[in-house]
Amino acid sequence: MPESFFILSKDYSELAVDEIISIAKTYDRFSKIKIISNLVIVQSKINWEKISKRATFVKISGQILRKMSGLFLDEENFEVLKNAHTFVCRIINLSSNQFNIPELESSMGDMISKFSQAKVSLENPDITIYLIFTNKENFFGFSRKTKPFVRPKKVRKFPHELDWKLSRAMINLIGLREGQTVCDPFCGTGTTLLEAESMGIHAIGLDFDEKMYQISKENLDANGYKSKLMKDDFSGLNKIIEEIDGIVTDLPYGRASKASENPEELLKKFVSMLPRKKKVAVMCKKEFKEKLNMNPTKKYEIYRHKGLTRTILIK
Ligand SMILES: C[S@@+](CC[C@H](N)C(=O)[O-])C[C@H]1O[C@@H](n2cnc3c(N)ncnc32)[C@H](O)[C@@H]1O
Repeated sequence: MPESFFILSKDYSELAVDEIISIAKTYDRFSKIKIISNLVIVQSKINWEKISKRATFVKISGQILRKMSGLFLDEENFEVLKNAHTFVCRIINLSSNQFNIPELESSMGDMISKFSQAKVSLENPDITIYLIFTNKENFFGFSRKTKPFVRPKKVRKFPHELDWKLSRAMINLIGLREGQTVCDPFCGTGTTLLEAESMGIHAIGLDFDEKMYQISKENLDANGYKSKLMKDDFSGLNKIIEEIDGIVTDLPYGRASKASENPEELLKKFVSMLPRKKKVAVMCKKEFKEKLNMNPTKKYEIYRHKGLTRTILIK
């Protein structure tokens, strides 16, 4: 079974690791995961590119070829370079040992050149060979050149919009697949809808405010996306409940964003409407999390600035 590796950025580290686990398990529930600090190793039927394309916080990813005991490599290790014209060697040092990384990369590059026809190229090589050092184990892996992912455009913004990274991670944390449908009943500028469609997931957005509805529409149109938009109160969720597989939303805060009613009343009503058997990810003010009474399976605290910590609840 192929093993992939993912080096994650250290922002929101717990969320970042859980996102990888969730994506891997969405496609192969028997995926096995190993976590070594910000390195996540996944043994799964699905390949690293598929996980990497969906994940939000991946800095570097690729396939593991084998564990390494020393720095000695032989011809067999370079099968992956067979049809490549160019390659580069990169060292990822997560261990507490100090290495002169540029020197090591360059001498590994020279050594690999002896076994292969491929030439070293620092810019856009066909193959990147990785040597990953940790305090416990060392790994030898590679990645191929991939097409850069085109992010959805947001032509209209608004101050209280959700950070696209959190929105994308929330969709991934509830394990939706391509072709399924997510609903954001407080869609605002359409962040959730844009992220969902960029991953091949259908989306339905509701917002009771004409202005926000128009902003979402413009943002979807700018990308040629076809999410369904309804200018409606969130209770309109009842009308579409059979069409959706999950809910991802960022609740109104009462200050910056317009709310139809007292935020606490709104929360109560919203939670009472949540379908029991569907997956839900909600972002709210930290102070609201107890009042939400959602029995989440997982919680994440997101520090925004002094005075505003938000919580993501997953059910
Ligand atoms: C925190 S914002 C959502 C921001 C959104 N996630 C984004 O990235 O732009 C909350 C949204 O809820 C909408 N809203 C407030 N009360 C509502 C209600 N009763 N029904 C539907 N939408 C409502 C507001 O108009 C606002 O756009």
